Amino acid sequence: MSSHALLESFDDLEPETDDFLSEVLTGLRATRKTLPCKFFYDEKGSKLFDRICDLPEYYPTRTETALLQDIGGEVADCIGPHAQIIEYGCGSVRKIRRVVDALVDPAAYVAVDISKEHLLAAANMLASDYPDLEVHAVCADFTKPFDVSPPTSYPEARRIGFFPGSTLGNFTKEEACAFLSGAAELLGTGGGMLIGIDLKKDIAILKAAYDDAAGVTAAFNMNLLDRINRELGANFDLDQFEHHVVYNDDVGRIEMHLRSLSSQTVTIDGSAFEFKAGETIHTENSHKYDIEGFQAMARDAGFEPQRVWTDSDDLFSVHFLTVP
Ligand code: AVJ
Repeated sequence: MSSHALLESFDDLEPETDDFLSEVLTGLRATRKTLPCKFFYDEKGSKLFDRICDLPEYYPTRTETALLQDIGGEVADCIGPHAQIIEYGCGSVRKIRRVVDALVDPAAYVAVDISKEHLLAAANMLASDYPDLEVHAVCADFTKPFDVSPPTSYPEARRIGFFPGSTLGNFTKEEACAFLSGAAELLGTGGGMLIGIDLKKDIAILKAAYDDAAGVTAAFNMNLLDRINRELGANFDLDQFEHHVVYNDDVGRIEMHLRSLSSQTVTIDGSAFEFKAGETIHTENSHKYDIEGFQAMARDAGFEPQRVWTDSDDLFSVHFLTVP
């Protein structure tokens, strides 16, 4: 049996290793070294991320999942019957289940993810649990344009984007706006977007969520260097870097860094990179929004905010937006 026998379609636009190498080299050549957070999610990284979602300090996943469960009926009313649900990054199948369970006869579910193994595992699991649902998989970097084929059952289905997890927070404000504009275009007039956005809150709660006591987030961050060693033949000494988390109050975001513990040189594909002791590689931003701030950005990107829901502690928000 092929790895996608249960799927209606599988489009493989998996990025080339060359893209990985060139983005790594570009990031490390910058004056302030940086690496794109989308590269966290190889097979090992995706598994570590699943463990993060279960950590006591990491409130976003369980809060959003419970919220989606609570608002299922209202979300179904917003989306309507026979919709084509397009999920940006099939992070955890648990959330989409809350949505699919609430919907009236959905036309299709399309999972889009950069990690092929993770994508096929998640899409197949959903297809086997929902035999009446058309499941499509697209392996792609969703920060770049990609195509989605219409459902076989309802070719004219309303397109609804699903972007949970506050993954939008990983983009800078400019990138977020560009991403949302692209999504509005893909979803088309009359389309909609259900999106989870983490809220601003007490800084201690935020920092603990990204620097957990068990060190799982540290391992997730460090895996990026390990991956560069494994896939690009680099020689990062993992004992000479550490996980470092800061809250950048000016911009309203958590930043993850990898901090060099000594003055050292690392070689990648014949290029040498010097690190000073204490110098960091900035590996991830996680922007936190307030409701008005997010809605203003969504409007700028061509969406019309329709509804917003939050949990009782105001930790997390879920928005429904439409494309006018
Ligand atoms: C991918 C947006 C869900 O920024 O909270 C979790 C990734 N990084 N812990 C986030 C992440 C460190 C996460 N999201």
